Amino acid sequence: MKKSILKKQLDHLNKNNHFRFHMPGHKGSGNDFDIFTYDTTEIPGADNLHDPKGVIAEVQEKCAKVYGSEETAILVNGSTTGIQSAILGACSPGEQLIVSANCHRSVFGALALGRIKGVFITPEFDEVMGFAKEVSLDSVKEAIIKYPQSRGMILTNPTYYGTTSDVKAIGEFLHGLGKFLIVDEAHGAHLHFNKELPLDAIAAEADVSIQSTHKILGSLTQSSLIHFQGSRINRQQVKFFLSLLQSSSPSYPLMISVEEAVDQACEKGTEIFKIIIDAHEDFSKNQSPNAPISLYKGHDSDSGYDQSKWLFHTRGISGDLIEEILLKTYRIQCELSGNDHVLAMTGIGTTQSDIDALTGAIDDLNKKILSGELKDHAIIASPDLPTEKLIAGALKTEVPLWKGIYDEKEKCPLAEANGRLAGDFIIPYPPGIPVLLPGSRINKEMIAGLSHLMDNGIIIVGINKNRELLLLEEKGVINDA
Ligand SMILES: Cc1ncc(COP(=O)(O)O)c(C=O)c1O
Repeated sequence: MKKSILKKQLDHLNKNNHFRFHMPGHKGSGNDFDIFTYDTTEIPGADNLHDPKGVIAEVQEKCAKVYGSEETAILVNGSTTGIQSAILGACSPGEQLIVSANCHRSVFGALALGRIKGVFITPEFDEVMGFAKEVSLDSVKEAIIKYPQSRGMILTNPTYYGTTSDVKAIGEFLHGLGKFLIVDEAHGAHLHFNKELPLDAIAAEADVSIQSTHKILGSLTQSSLIHFQGSRINRQQVKFFLSLLQSSSPSYPLMISVEEAVDQACEKGTEIFKIIIDAHEDFSKNQSPNAPISLYKGHDSDSGYDQSKWLFHTRGISGDLIEEILLKTYRIQCELSGNDHVLAMTGIGTTQSDIDALTGAIDDLNKKILSGELKDHAIIASPDLPTEKLIAGALKTEVPLWKGIYDEKEKCPLAEANGRLAGDFIIPYPPGIPVLLPGSRINKEMIAGLSHLMDNGIIIVGINKNRELLLLEEKGVINDA
């Protein structure tokens, strides 16, 4: 079939997608430059991302000035390669790195590629919503006491759900010991542009931060930035890995779009995010305490909540169902949903009428649920999901991660995996945090917990629909681990 991806996208956009509360942040409107016209290779005068000396170097300097970093580089393979290069450039094989367990899969990739030992910290969990809130300074201190040789830390901040940690305090503590702090700020390229938003990593004096300018600002998907300051991390080495891992044909449309996004954020970021923050505050202030769908106000931490994220807690009705109704009835496409929540992501392309559509739809749905109008739908009680316990107990490996990836594997039903070593990343969505890594020992509680999650419709990456997973081929199976 001809043009099947294009056709599918057009069909989807025409049918449903009038109010976009999902990534990317431009929401489908931006500077209409013709991608094909500007898509060239490194012809004379176009400069080269892998050794910028001309216009790309100038734009990178402009971005550094805007964000207040010492040096900034454009990324064309997403924050993913920025994160991987930062870790690979900062740690040598065999060294230890403290990792917040709610990290993105790119972090695990870097640990495996670089044969680096991850020291995992379990973040604080929101008891009601069941996802990671902040990584506490105390937990970083404990990790350092246990693993004093750790070279530094990578912290995810803000999280997908908008929660934040005290980056400044964690950074100061690590720096006091001569250790570095890398911040995966994939969800935070907008923070710098409004003072009411949580502090950005460069302002909080992190050594390196990596930002997906496509997620909430307006660049094209896959374009991102990496910022550097100070000398705790060898920049040359990080840049060496960027050249090694990124495409040798960096896309000019992606690079152009990063500059456009940063210019746009300078021009109107403060104003747009003020509208979004004020609307978030108004909506949560005016909401009835017994509204079945309520806006998450953030967690009680001094580091603040990123109110560009509109996270709704659904009580008595599934978040997945609310996401479906929002799309079918109100033409609102959200970013994601789960058993008891729906996440609507705003961005620099969000308008007042988008916000009005969203808040109007939620008010309407609340009325319908309370009046019993929606009672034919599957109204459910949120089951007690054990994800938090699974995460807290896991993320240990009995073989190095890189070895777990290379070793021979076999497929096995989950129910028969007790005592065996996982051969893959096992990741419940949400919250998207692995509960088993290649080389983690599986026990009975883990099997019961994962089965319970699947019984309740949670998607688990790494376990197929027949409930089978990959295991490492080991001799001598332990039966009652
Ligand atoms: C926390 C976090 N870090 C990193 C990434 C990777 O970013 P990118 O898609 O720009 O490669 C993501 C993507 O979803 C993410 O959520």
